[in-house]
Amino acid sequence: MTICISFISQKGGVGKSTLARALAREANEQKLNVKVADLDTQQGTVINWHRRRLHSNYPPVGSVESFKTADQALKNIDNYDLLIIDGPARASKATLDIAQQSDIVIQPTGASMDDLEPAILLFHELFKAGIPKSKLYFALCRIGTDSELDACREYLGQTGYNILGGCLFEKPAYRQTQNLGLSILETSYQSLNKRADELIQSIVDSIKSE
Ligand SMILES: Nc1ncnc2c1ncn2[C@@H]1O[C@H](COP(=O)(O)OP(=O)(O)OP(=O)(O)O)[C@@H](O)[C@H]1O
Ligand SMILES: [Mg+2]
Repeated sequence: MTICISFISQKGGVGKSTLARALAREANEQKLNVKVADLDTQQGTVINWHRRRLHSNYPPVGSVESFKTADQALKNIDNYDLLIIDGPARASKATLDIAQQSDIVIQPTGASMDDLEPAILLFHELFKAGIPKSKLYFALCRIGTDSELDACREYLGQTGYNILGGCLFEKPAYRQTQNLGLSILETSYQSLNKRADELIQSIVDSIKSE
């Protein structure tokens, strides 16, 4: 059975493509057969990153392709263990489609109220449209400090949606490593790789519990 995991948000720049790339890299390390579907056809972030990755002779992260819709991405995936969908920043019918087709839906969010409130609203909308809460996970991204992280966890904890373990701190090194075609698990700093790995392993755990 192929597990489908998607990254969605209404806001842009929250970390969808960053987590999708890291998860693809980790799943490949774990010998899973991975397909990444880049549904953000306007930006093609993962497509372009994978091209940079291959150009620099870093190991591929599986099959990376661009699709217009979740339905198209789901065709001919029987040979894959994992389909990772990188969605566009939108709260639209297309976002609901992606969520309906996914076993796990991850929404990265920053720590400010400006980020948290629309993030919670989007999960409320998906829940009202019939997506079970058990499928919906927040990922805490671009966090500044430990106290910001604690406040964010406490606030989101009241919503009843899942929150992934670990978080991604805001670090220029994460950007720079992705510029090179590497993932946030592959920076030159062991401590940053370890922090990123906590979050990605929490995603892997959610896949294993499927
Ligand atoms: N934790 C972080 N620290 C520093 N830079 C980050 C971090 N997470 C993401 N970035 C950078 O922020 C930008 C946006 O990240 P990313 O592309 O993952 O977001 P996105 O949600 O996919 O955005 P979009 O909605 O535009 O598709 C990228 O340049 C990325 O390298
Ligand atoms: Mg993106």
